[in-house]
Amino acid sequence: MGKRILVTGGAGYIGSHVVKVLGERGYEVLVYDNLSTGHEWAVLYGRLVRGDLGDRETLRKTFEEFRPDAVMHFAALIVVPESVREPLRYYRNNVVNTLNLLEVMREFGVDKFIFSSSAAVYGVPERVPVPETAPLNPINPYGETKAAVERILRDLSGSGADFRYISLRYFNVAGADPEGRVGFAYPDPTHLIIRAVKTAKGEFSKLEIYGTDYPTPDGTCIRDYIHVVDLAEAHIVALEYLLEGGRSEVFNCGYGHGYSVREVVETVKRVTGRDFRVVEAPRRPGDPPILVADARRIRERLGWQPRYDDLEFIVKTAWEWELKGRG
Ligand code: UFG
Repeated sequence: MGKRILVTGGAGYIGSHVVKVLGERGYEVLVYDNLSTGHEWAVLYGRLVRGDLGDRETLRKTFEEFRPDAVMHFAALIVVPESVREPLRYYRNNVVNTLNLLEVMREFGVDKFIFSSSAAVYGVPERVPVPETAPLNPINPYGETKAAVERILRDLSGSGADFRYISLRYFNVAGADPEGRVGFAYPDPTHLIIRAVKTAKGEFSKLEIYGTDYPTPDGTCIRDYIHVVDLAEAHIVALEYLLEGGRSEVFNCGYGHGYSVREVVETVKRVTGRDFRVVEAPRRPGDPPILVADARRIRERLGWQPRYDDLEFIVKTAWEWELKGRG
C-alpha cells in the first residue's frame, strides 16, 4: 500500500502536476481544494474533497477518514498586486489557513509537511544567485505571507514537537505537463510566459514589457524559469526524504541561471512560429531586476536532477497546452 499524501490546492497549477506524479508513483492521494482557482478535471489521481482550509470541521473529518502520512500544502493566493490591494485576504488565506492546517495536523499526529514557498520571500536580494541563507526581506504582502509561514514552520519544528518540514522556495514556475493532461488555467493570468503564449494565440492584442531600463544587459528583468514537472519532482524527492526520516530543510527551486524578458519573448515567437505585438511599458512596481536561485543545495542534499532546464522546452509545453484551450 502506498503512503497516503494529503495535497491542499491539488486542483491548481502546480499541485495538479505534483498529484499526477504522486499517482504515477503509487502514492495514495487526497486533494483538499476549495476550487476557487483550481479545477476538478486537473485532479488526475485520488479523491477530491471540495473544502476550505478555513473550515476546520471539514478539514478534521478529512484527516480522520484519510489519516495521511504527510501533507503537501499548495493552497494559497498568489497574485502579488492583488495582495497589495487586499492584504487581509492574503494573510487570512495564506497564514491563518495554514495555521488551521498545522493545528489539525498536530491533532491527528501528522508530522511531515511540504510547503510551497516562493522566491518572493527574498524581496530584492542583495546578491544573485540568491542562496537559501539570504535574509527574508519580502517587499509585498504575498511575500510576507510566505515568509510568515516559513517562520511558523521553523518555530514549530524547533519547539521539540514531532514535526518536520521542507519549505520549497519556487522561482519562476512555467510550462505544462509534456503529456498535455494538466497545465495552467488561471482566470486572469499575470505571468510572463502564459501571457506571451496567449498573445501568440491571439487572446491578447499585445504583450507589454514592464520596464526596459533595468541594470541588466538588455534592460529587462531576468528570472530563473523552472519547468513545472521538474518542480513536481522536487516535491517527490522532498517527500521521500521526509518519509525516510530527514530533518527540516529549506530549498530554492530553480536552475541557477536566468533569462531576460526580451529573451523569453523572442523564444515564444520562435517556438510558436507566430509574431505578435510587443510594447515597451513602464516598470511594474515591486519587480526585482534579477532573481536567480543558487540552486545547489537541493541537488546536493536531495539528489534532485532536473530534466527540462531548457527555455525552448518550457515554452513548447506551455504553447501546446495553450493550444488545447483549457488554459
Ligand atoms: N512581465 C512583463 N510582461 C508581462 C508579464 C510579466 O514584462 O506581461 C515581466 C515582469 O515584469 C517580470 C518578468 O516578466 O520582470 C516575470 O514576471 P512574472 O509575473 O511572470 O513573474 P514574477 O517574477 O513577477 O513572479 C514570480 C512568482 C511570484 C513571486 C515573484 C517574486 O511567480 O510568485 O516571482 O518576485 F512572488
